[in-house]
Amino acid sequence: MDRKKFLTYLGTGTVALAAASTGLDGIADRVKAQQGTFHKPNKKIPKMGPLKFNPIEPTSMDDLVLPKGYSYKVVAAYGDKINAKGDTFGFNNDYTLFFPIEGEDERGLLWVNHEYVDDKFVFGKEIEGNYSKAQIEKMLYNQGGSIIEVVNGPDGWAMDTSSQYARRVTGLTPIALTGPAKGANTIGGASKVQGTFANCSGGATLWGTLLTCEENYESTSKAAKLDETHYGWVVEVDPFDEKFQVRKHTALGRFNHENTCMGLARDGRVVVYMGDDKKDACVYKFISKGKYDPKAGKKNAKLLETGTLYVADFSKGAWVPLTIEEVQKAAGDDQESLAKFQSQADVVVNCHDAALLVGGTPTDRPEDVEISPFDGTVFIAHTNNDNHGNMHGHITRFFEKNDDHGSLEFQFSIFAAGGIQSGFSAPDNLTFDEDGNLWTVTDISSSKLNSTIWEPFGNNGMFVIPTHGKNEGVAFQFASAPVEAELTGPSFTPDEKTLFLSVQHPGEETEDLSKPTSKWPHRAGDSMPRPGVVAITGF
Ligand code: FEO
Ligand code: CA
Ligand code: CA
Repeated sequence: MDRKKFLTYLGTGTVALAAASTGLDGIADRVKAQQGTFHKPNKKIPKMGPLKFNPIEPTSMDDLVLPKGYSYKVVAAYGDKINAKGDTFGFNNDYTLFFPIEGEDERGLLWVNHEYVDDKFVFGKEIEGNYSKAQIEKMLYNQGGSIIEVVNGPDGWAMDTSSQYARRVTGLTPIALTGPAKGANTIGGASKVQGTFANCSGGATLWGTLLTCEENYESTSKAAKLDETHYGWVVEVDPFDEKFQVRKHTALGRFNHENTCMGLARDGRVVVYMGDDKKDACVYKFISKGKYDPKAGKKNAKLLETGTLYVADFSKGAWVPLTIEEVQKAAGDDQESLAKFQSQADVVVNCHDAALLVGGTPTDRPEDVEISPFDGTVFIAHTNNDNHGNMHGHITRFFEKNDDHGSLEFQFSIFAAGGIQSGFSAPDNLTFDEDGNLWTVTDISSSKLNSTIWEPFGNNGMFVIPTHGKNEGVAFQFASAPVEAELTGPSFTPDEKTLFLSVQHPGEETEDLSKPTSKWPHRAGDSMPRPGVVAITGF
């Protein structure tokens, strides 16, 4: 398919066209048949209206390009002061989550993850060899998360640095552990650890806190000479309450956590879906032992301390428990595995290895997982995996048996596949809007953008994909990222009049700091690109 044809298909595609060109014809029909037993919508499905924007075309411009009628404003970028104390906004912003203040859509707290630092922009050069003590502190300070207060004033969205709430959680913050690995030998007996870093995506809880996920922790823990078993966890933060002890919930397992998505089982237990963003890694869910009590407020955080972690076996459509009993049983007489797995702490610390032992299916970089607010189906972005030729990735949809998130059986479909027939490649973070559309951002590696098989896609982008109706599974492009950037962490205000979005690593491939490949956000007098969070309006 040539580029012109590809562009013609954008915005005009139909399910039939998409299915024909992905080879998914027929599979779609089978899935529909299966939906009778595995998928009865328990909510009124909204009637999908026409999309509220004219899709854009791919571009390689050094700007955040949006459809006509939409605009963006940078609310915070790397190095900006966030509070009166002088704390600053960290590097490479990712997950965002808006918390209204007093129910307002025009003022709230915005949690923002900071995933990693880029030496050349943070230290002014690539560090060869060992980092100095000051550099390690700076590296740790610029990861973690920022809590900023944002307000939609007469000049649009801006940060309010007089906020009583604005603060940082960083690689230097003392953090408590909960769950089976707390105090265990396998993590050096620690019940408190230093800091959180590699914070990629995350998720909301039902009780008003947030979960931030530690993804590629290895390089920072090595550089800072920190025990790597203290990282790779899911971390809970209350943006409004500094006294709420920041905690890592070890019952949710230790791996390259992308995000969390919390739902409820039919019987009221809390369910947390999670992806492990690595090639040939698994999809997980945690089910709490206790039941959610709306009246208990933040005391519900205890639910994340005790429960069962499961891994998805796609070949059987089964969630397999990751308990020490099951892992030892699966190890049989393999002495090496039996020596490695002696307790539940060993299982959660070495989660990926345990998952493969019990039959967890290695998949293609499972990143964001989101539950459809309309029918409870579960969407998983499988970004890509060149180990077996999945260059453009796909989005998988799980149908839990009896529409129960507590169920241990599922069916699945390939909801949408990346490629020139769909117009997107490398789906990553996901979020839903009130019309049941799935919003996804893409993460084509910055070294591959605009070249070879990725040439037709232009820069990374943001796409809207209806999940019902005649355009089910068809992607429409809403945004195009600045040069070499990845768009991450989209989150709407409750009234869906504003979309917060992170622009991560613009100009990442820069080799000569005097000639950066991007200068986004093009601030007057600024000579470098800066990761930043924008507020998009026009909805
Ligand atoms: Fe940090 Fe999986 O993206
Ligand atoms: Ca991500
Ligand atoms: Ca990613």
